[in-house]
Amino acid sequence: MSSPPKILVFDSGLGGLTVLREIVRVRPDAHYVYVADDAFFPYGHHTEEQIIARVVPLIGELIARHAPVLVVIACNTASTLVMSHLRSAYSVPFVGTVPAIKPACASSKTKRVSVLGTKGTVKREYTRRLIEDFAQGCDVTLVGSAELASLAEATLTGNDVRDADIATELAPCFVGDGADRTDTVVLACTHYPLLLERLARLAPWPVDWIDPAPAIARRVSALLGSPGRQSDDAGAEMIFTSQRPHTLSRALMPFFGGRVLA
Ligand code: DGL
Repeated sequence: MSSPPKILVFDSGLGGLTVLREIVRVRPDAHYVYVADDAFFPYGHHTEEQIIARVVPLIGELIARHAPVLVVIACNTASTLVMSHLRSAYSVPFVGTVPAIKPACASSKTKRVSVLGTKGTVKREYTRRLIEDFAQGCDVTLVGSAELASLAEATLTGNDVRDADIATELAPCFVGDGADRTDTVVLACTHYPLLLERLARLAPWPVDWIDPAPAIARRVSALLGSPGRQSDDAGAEMIFTSQRPHTLSRALMPFFGGRVLA
């Protein structure tokens, strides 16, 4: 039997698990290596130059060590900067994660959309261009959050996070009133779906939350081609660049489709 395709999923921390979860759902036949660059977390606090200088060689080392057939950059803060650098440096196919502005603007009824991302992602030229090209007449509000990724990470690692702290980061997404108010919020950081239930509960009014993870999973599956048979080798590995041991395994297993982490 041929060995399962190996997919490397990369993020600054645990947020990329929200993308991994969707990929595992559509491709249970693959073997997953999840890399959290926690030694450099949060990416949202670094400059563009620092992120390029960190991520491009690190991905090269990971490709050399793990020989994946495909790499997913499950981080908007990195993807909005490094994809062209990665594609010109390495021949393996890459799938990135960028703000889902096009589908959000296509589905908004009030034509008021907010993009909630890290301070880095909302400042990017790449994000501005997505708005220019795909706003489709919508009024788009960019909201850069300094803390939400860390709050999501704290929640997943079992620490208490106050509702008030989440609500403060979320509040600027809600603009206008009546028939003109925001009806769609793009989750432009892979950490934020970890907080989805609390975001929905703390929102001043109901909105559609746009998470691109299912679309990313479909793209990955299309690039891989038809699924092979699921084999016992289709396992999962979790790597933290800080080299910390993963005491979180039990909480993380559902994101890996229940696989036991190596
Ligand atoms: N998960 C990352 C993203 O999608 C960023 C979090 C961070 O490191 O600031 O943007």
